[in-house]
This record gives sequence, C-alpha cells and structure tokens, in this order.
Amino acid sequence: MKICYFTATGNCLYVAKRIGGELLSIPQLMRNGQLEICDDAVGIVCPVYAVEMPMMVREFLAKVKIKTDYFFFIYTYGMGYAEAFAHADMAARANGLKIDYIHAIQMVDNYLPVFEMQNQLDTLAAKNVEGQIDAVCRDIAERKHTEIVITAEIEAEIAKYKAMLAVPILRKDTAKGYIVTDQCIRCGICAKVCPANNITVTDKVYFSDHCEVCYACLHNCPQNAIHMQNEQSSVRFRNEHIKLKDIILANQ
Ligand SMILES: Cc1cc2nc3c(=O)[nH]c(=O)nc-3n(C[C@H](O)[C@H](O)[C@H](O)COP(=O)(O)O)c2cc1C
Repeated sequence: MKICYFTATGNCLYVAKRIGGELLSIPQLMRNGQLEICDDAVGIVCPVYAVEMPMMVREFLAKVKIKTDYFFFIYTYGMGYAEAFAHADMAARANGLKIDYIHAIQMVDNYLPVFEMQNQLDTLAAKNVEGQIDAVCRDIAERKHTEIVITAEIEAEIAKYKAMLAVPILRKDTAKGYIVTDQCIRCGICAKVCPANNITVTDKVYFSDHCEVCYACLHNCPQNAIHMQNEQSSVRFRNEHIKLKDIILANQ
C-alpha cells in the first residue's frame, strides 16, 4: 500500500502513519516529478482547505497516474467539509480515476483566522480521533467501498464555489501579508517546513508568491515569530504525535 499525503501541522501525517504502508509526501512527489504510483492499494490523505483540498493536492490529482485495485481518499478537517467529497470525486474522475473509498476525520482545526488553538486543544478529546482513525483503518483493511452521490444540488453548490474562485479564498500571495516579529532568529525552520518552497531566509524572512496557505510556517516556528493580522490568538498547534523534524522531512 502507498499513501500520498500533504501536511502542515501533522494531522494528515499522523493519519497516514496510522493507516500504514509506504508514505509519500505530495510536495516531494510534485517537486521530483514522480507522478506514477502503483500498488495494490493507493491512498491520498490531505486536509480540507476551504471545503475542498489544498491547491497542490488538486494539481497532484490532475497529473498523477495511479495504477491500483483500491484507491482511497481521506480528508482531515476541523469544522466541516461540506462538498469536499464531491470535489475529490470530480477531480479524480477528470483524471480517469475512481475513488473506491472516501472518509473525513475530524481533528484540530488549524485555521488561525477563525479558530483559537487552545480552545481547539481543550475540546479535542470529544472528537475521539483515535476511534475515527481505527474505523478508517478497519474499512481500508476490509477494502470497503463508499459511493459518492453527486446530486443536482451538489453540482449547483460546486458551480457556485467555482464561480467564487474567480476571487480565490486561498491565494498564492497570502504569505506576503504575514508579519515576522523581532522574535525571529532566522533559523530557517519556516523555509524547511514550507511545502511550496515559498520562503527564503537570509537577512530576514522573504515570502514569495506561491503560498499554499497551509500555515506550516506559522504553526511550526520555534520562536512563534510569524503572525497574521487576523489570527484568533498567538497559540500554535502541531499534532501531538508528530515532531518538528517529521514536518521538515515531509516538506523540505
Ligand atoms: C487555509 C485553511 C483552510 C481550512 N479550511 C477548512 C475547512 O473548510 N473546513 C474544515 O473543517 N477545516 C479546515 N481547515 C482545517 C484543516 O483542514 C485541519 O486542521 C487539518 O486537519 C490540518 O491538517 P494537517 O495538520 O495535516 O496540516 C483549514 C485549514 C487551513 C490552513
């Protein structure tokens, strides 16, 4: 089994590790142009961003050639995933792929403009993350199938969403608005955890124009020196089972 994953704060990496098999980082696959994946079972594990998948995962799904008997797609999310299944289904079909099994696992929501991270951590136990992951692992082991039904209503929702994307919610120049405080010691960790190679650290931290809006740099900065004007608090998050070095290995 091979799992292609995208992660910023470790939720997806943890879920991918729990499912097992050979883990492949989508940012690295994209960078290396390694776009042929073949195994008895192949999965994608990625976060929900703006009720669909990260931009890089969409690009990956459009290009990758997957040969498998069982293709699964697992989202992690915090608050809600609305039509995210339909987005995945339509994006996969556009590349000739059929998703056999899809599921979403509710975890900490790392979206700083809306959620306060301490509150997310305080309410995490009620989400029964381990139970959700156990259920997904069982389903995958049994090669369970799910059907994604796309009704006319869902299609209309997605059409509305696509029209809205004329003014994208996730903008490639988002990082240019980040504030780096004088807590920054120019250690370069932000550049290493960035899945998009969007950050250069020399005399100061420079953000380029291909941000994935994943917040890996904000959440993983050891000095807590990177901020957004509209963040709910300065508390940061990384999945408790995942270390900083794991995020670096995944994304650098
Ligand atoms: C830009 C952005 C948009 C997000 N949008 C959603 C969303 O629409 N719905 C939701 O439930 N969670 C949303 N989230 C939260 C993530 O999906 C969630 O925290 C995920 O588990 C993070 O995975 P990771 O730790 O592997 O990076 C968003 C997070 C970011 C950074």
